[in-house]
Amino acid sequence: MRILVTGGAGYIGATAVEILLQQGFDVSVLDDLSSGFADALPSQARFIEGTILNMHTVREALTGASAVIHFAGKSLVGESVQKPDLYRDVNVHGTRVLLEEMRLANIKQIVFSSSAATYGEPTTTPITESAPTQPTSPYGETKLAIDQMLTKEASAHGLAAISLRYFNVAGSMKTERGWLRERHNPETHLIPNVLHSTADHPVKIFGSDWPTADGTCIRDYIHVVDLIDAHVRALRVLKDSHHAIINIGSGRGYSVREVIDSAQKVLERPIPTLDSPRRDGDPAVLVASIELAESLLNWRPSRDLAQMVTDTASSLELL
Ligand code: UFG
Repeated sequence: MRILVTGGAGYIGATAVEILLQQGFDVSVLDDLSSGFADALPSQARFIEGTILNMHTVREALTGASAVIHFAGKSLVGESVQKPDLYRDVNVHGTRVLLEEMRLANIKQIVFSSSAATYGEPTTTPITESAPTQPTSPYGETKLAIDQMLTKEASAHGLAAISLRYFNVAGSMKTERGWLRERHNPETHLIPNVLHSTADHPVKIFGSDWPTADGTCIRDYIHVVDLIDAHVRALRVLKDSHHAIINIGSGRGYSVREVIDSAQKVLERPIPTLDSPRRDGDPAVLVASIELAESLLNWRPSRDLAQMVTDTASSLELL
């Protein structure tokens, strides 16, 4: 069975490519390399360099595929506030092109990387899939618009779709070609920033006055390998004319200070920090309810925060 992985040269997509190949799938990758890296791709994957915005490229990439795992898209919350049109164009319009080409090619299965950003500021914790969706960024709005598009496409055209709403993805996977890791520039994510912290450039703690036990924000971190395991399980439970939305997190929260403590233990050195103002748009607490993932996908994460920090540190050659 051939799977088209859009965005397969990025951090999460390349991890999916690796695991799908290990599990015996054939894999095609469509990626425009705007934030991915060709060297993340193994030679066994068929690689089409191009954008999801171009229907001819999408058509070529879909050749021989039975299902799509759709990661391609812009994914920085802060950037989306500066460039909302770019996010709408690439994420929403690009997915529209992909779905139209899938329909023409009679490919009816898709697993989509949605986001906890669709919920916005939570009204209850942990967040279930039935929680209100009130995104606080254009990025979250585009992910929600795509989820809604998938619901319509399932009922109107028989698509079998699952949206996985990721919480905070972290960790790295080791392959024969080295570690598949986050390679963002600039890096905005907490764990790599904590690991790179030095006395000259200490990691900033964005707010120490949040209404949480230690005053810092709480997030739900999920190892990228566990996340991809959920995608492979999702592929196996897709149902025609049905769109399911499923949270993927660990179901438990860690504060920014707990992440820093974990990194101090892993690196066996103190991590310099700088108390800083709150970052715009950050909610205090984001923790997933993962009961639906457990029941629908028969999935549970097996890698904890220490493993995520250790693997990220190894991938950055800090261990
Ligand atoms: N943080 C710091 N210092 C840093 C970086 C982050 O204190 O240098 C804090 C943030 O304020 C936040 C937490 O660490 O409280 C995690 O921040 P990240 O930037 O690592 O992740 P986010 O929670 O902002 O965003 C992630 C994904 C988004 C997704 C969102 C949904 O990156 O794509 O989760 O919950 F939309």
